[in-house]
Amino acid sequence: MTKFARVVTAVPIALLLLVCLGRGEDPAAKLRSDRDGLALTPPMGWYPWNEFGQEPQNEELIKETAEALIRSGMKDAGYTYIGPDEGICFSRDASGKLTSNLARYPSGLRGLGDDIHQQGLKYALYTDAGTHTCSKAMPGTKGHEFEDMKAFAEWRADYIKIDWCNTTGQTPATAYPRLRDAQLAAGRPIVFSLCSWGEGQPWKWAASVGHLWRTTEDICEPGKPNWAAAMKTVAANEKLFAAAGPGHWNDPDMMISGMRSLSEAQNRSLFSLWCMMASPLIAGNDLRSMTESTIKILTNREAIGINQDPLGIQGRIVRRDGQAQIWAAKRLFDGSRAVLVFNPGEAPAQVQVTPADAGFEESASLYVRDLWTHQTSGPQAGSIRVTVAPRDVALLRIAKANSFPLPPIIVADSYRVVFHASGKSAQELTKAIAVKNNGNSELPLWKVSPGLPSWLSVTVAQSGKTQTFSNKASAAGLAKGHYHAVVKADNREPISGLPMSALYYDVDLEVSGAAGGPASN
Ligand code: GLA
Repeated sequence: MTKFARVVTAVPIALLLLVCLGRGEDPAAKLRSDRDGLALTPPMGWYPWNEFGQEPQNEELIKETAEALIRSGMKDAGYTYIGPDEGICFSRDASGKLTSNLARYPSGLRGLGDDIHQQGLKYALYTDAGTHTCSKAMPGTKGHEFEDMKAFAEWRADYIKIDWCNTTGQTPATAYPRLRDAQLAAGRPIVFSLCSWGEGQPWKWAASVGHLWRTTEDICEPGKPNWAAAMKTVAANEKLFAAAGPGHWNDPDMMISGMRSLSEAQNRSLFSLWCMMASPLIAGNDLRSMTESTIKILTNREAIGINQDPLGIQGRIVRRDGQAQIWAAKRLFDGSRAVLVFNPGEAPAQVQVTPADAGFEESASLYVRDLWTHQTSGPQAGSIRVTVAPRDVALLRIAKANSFPLPPIIVADSYRVVFHASGKSAQELTKAIAVKNNGNSELPLWKVSPGLPSWLSVTVAQSGKTQTFSNKASAAGLAKGHYHAVVKADNREPISGLPMSALYYDVDLEVSGAAGGPASN
């Protein structure tokens, strides 16, 4: 299997594309994630559309939200991807090139991305497969696929959502593969998110094209969370369970949990459903003004552990009991099972969850952990009695042993390293980034992919839950200019032995002055 884009180069940035275009991609790769190792668990992050629509999307909002995401503990819980949605962030100039809207994003789209990377977050951008985005405020990619994907790579996007407005005469099954090819040619590993709202049935063919695809229409109009629409979304997405798995996810839209007018029970229910459906956990609420209750829900690591389970199974409804739905068939990496009892009704529901519902033999003696009260009971044989308030849930993890490990949650202090070298005198050119595992297994050392440029070397060392990537650059012999590499590292989750999402970060080396004299570290 050809690993996608070990985007490393010892040549100035202008030649980066040529180098990457030359790297053979495996046209037979069954999954997009086979190429890049990305999104092997559902992507987590924040997008502005559900709460804000187009106004006031701008640099300030994105930066304030990134700060709130970190301050609230969401970053530590695994939320990573953030950026503008249809935020009027670029236009097309007379030469056909995309240019940043500096009035709304004064740092430019590359500057905003650098800021996000420096904070240990990943950069999400948005575009459209048609002639324009939905409001027509921004150009779409039609006819400009290759140069636009190059622009997103130059802005250093890590995630691209591609909408389906203004696409008369196009079909998803041909337009998105073309965009995939354009994106691969641009040479930057990116989580590729198709947004045709289910048009063209992407769950049947898009696993080799992207990492996730919208299955339904928008869950709400901006600023107007809608419980009934969310229920319709869940019902449609549930049926598609067989299409989801590591690196290829059904996307029932950004979450509405935490938006104004929903109750705590509704927020908890929706979040639990997104966790059970292995849905991307892209928050859509205003993170700057969250209540404590919303923070608690969005950062519940035991619930997130169900969503981020390395097996990547999408749970489904295995039985109904009156109004109540019993969601199960979600085997987890340690052999335990997740079960959700959801009561969408107006009266309390009393449900008996049988060992068979959970996927165990009827005689099994089981421990039951309630992932909202964080209490464990058992061991017990027979059915588990659950009472659920209206529009509320019981989210359970059921196991034969009294042990409920959390899968890895990877949190980096930065995804960008910058070196400045004059190339003349001896210089200290070592910088580290720290990567922490907030799950509770001990991870093996991250393994850096070979093929780094000659000016860069990377070693990894471990201390407790943190692994440090030490980056050493040497400008010796390099001409004045800008050098860039993307470091890729792989790891395996130790309990299941399954590959974890690859870790990527950017390294920049600015060489000023005369061509490199000896540089020392
Ligand atoms: C579509 C998408 C939304 C959002 C808007 C922007 O409706 O489904 O998520 O991106 O476009 O206009």
